[in-house]
Amino acid sequence: MMPFIFHLKTLFFVRCSFNKEQRKSPTKVFLNEKQVSYTVENMDFDKVYCKSSENMSEVADESVTLIVTSPPYNINNNYGNVHKNGRAVKSKGAKYEDNLEEEEYRKMLGRTFKECKRVLKQNGSIWINIKSRFVDGFIVPPFWILDFFKDMFLKNIIIWNFDWGGSTEKRFSPRYEFVFWFVKDTNNYVFNLDEIKVPALNYRPDRFKSQWKNPTDVWYIQMVSGNYPERTAHPAQYPEELLERIIKVASNKGDVVLDPFIGSGTTSRVAKDLDRKYIGYEINSEYVKMCNERLSLPPKRRKKQTTDIRPLYFYMDNEELANYVRKQGR
Ligand SMILES: C[S@@+](CC[C@H](N)C(=O)[O-])C[C@H]1O[C@@H](n2cnc3c(N)ncnc32)[C@H](O)[C@@H]1O
Repeated sequence: MMPFIFHLKTLFFVRCSFNKEQRKSPTKVFLNEKQVSYTVENMDFDKVYCKSSENMSEVADESVTLIVTSPPYNINNNYGNVHKNGRAVKSKGAKYEDNLEEEEYRKMLGRTFKECKRVLKQNGSIWINIKSRFVDGFIVPPFWILDFFKDMFLKNIIIWNFDWGGSTEKRFSPRYEFVFWFVKDTNNYVFNLDEIKVPALNYRPDRFKSQWKNPTDVWYIQMVSGNYPERTAHPAQYPEELLERIIKVASNKGDVVLDPFIGSGTTSRVAKDLDRKYIGYEINSEYVKMCNERLSLPPKRRKKQTTDIRPLYFYMDNEELANYVRKQGR
């Protein structure tokens, strides 16, 4: 009995000293038994949470520099089915059906975006990739998204243009999506333009000069096709190249990049490759597994090798192209 009491006393003493230590530095604040409020000092980074981003209590106020995401489109994508090369091959009972009532869909997004604004730093920005939907024969453009960000500043609406996709017979085949970019403070935000400048090509490789220009608000970046090494089984994966440009321009090394609808983990993969910290939220546990597996492997970005400078403009990243150009003595 004595040793047991001794142990209890020791434990009590250790616990009290620990608590005193803990009180010196900022720590978790227990609001009630379940809810914990985090400060930057005790937050976990480089983690994908398997839960809805409507509540991101694991992320401290004003701790994130960049939020980039593509929300569920509400076009009946059966996230959770079995996919191969990006196509649904077998249904095993969708865990999340992308066909909420429109009102519920927007309420859900509203709760997530409110959380996004809470965790965003004053000099931070939110980038949202979304496309027009085709519902009952009508186009529904995504400009309703602006209603959620009336307290922020819209800096650009980027047109992400690509070549592939379904063909239509009675209207033009859709070949673009939007990326809306909002900042908290219109005079103070991260924008590393030099990091993402593109070669100012004049389409005469022999006359190419190492001049670099603003890539403009129309971005030509291919969709992730079935034969891309980076392709996962997620039905709505966006390309790493798109994320690379956004992460480089809107954050610095060591900054935190958050994706509240992370899917297959594209955002976290690129953030990690570019030495940023990442946090993700995803409600489908299969996709969380996919993210973690993708993060545990080396990057699989598609690289195309060719001697013609013009295609390189589209397939190489800036640094690679700059090195290539220098080597060629152009
Ligand atoms: C358009 S996909 C994102 C795809 C991602 N950009 C990629 O490259 O793989 C949207 C994702 O949001 C997830 N999702 C839907 N509602 C959610 C919620 N409330 N919280 C977190 N994730 C959610 C879906 O399961 C789906 O994987």
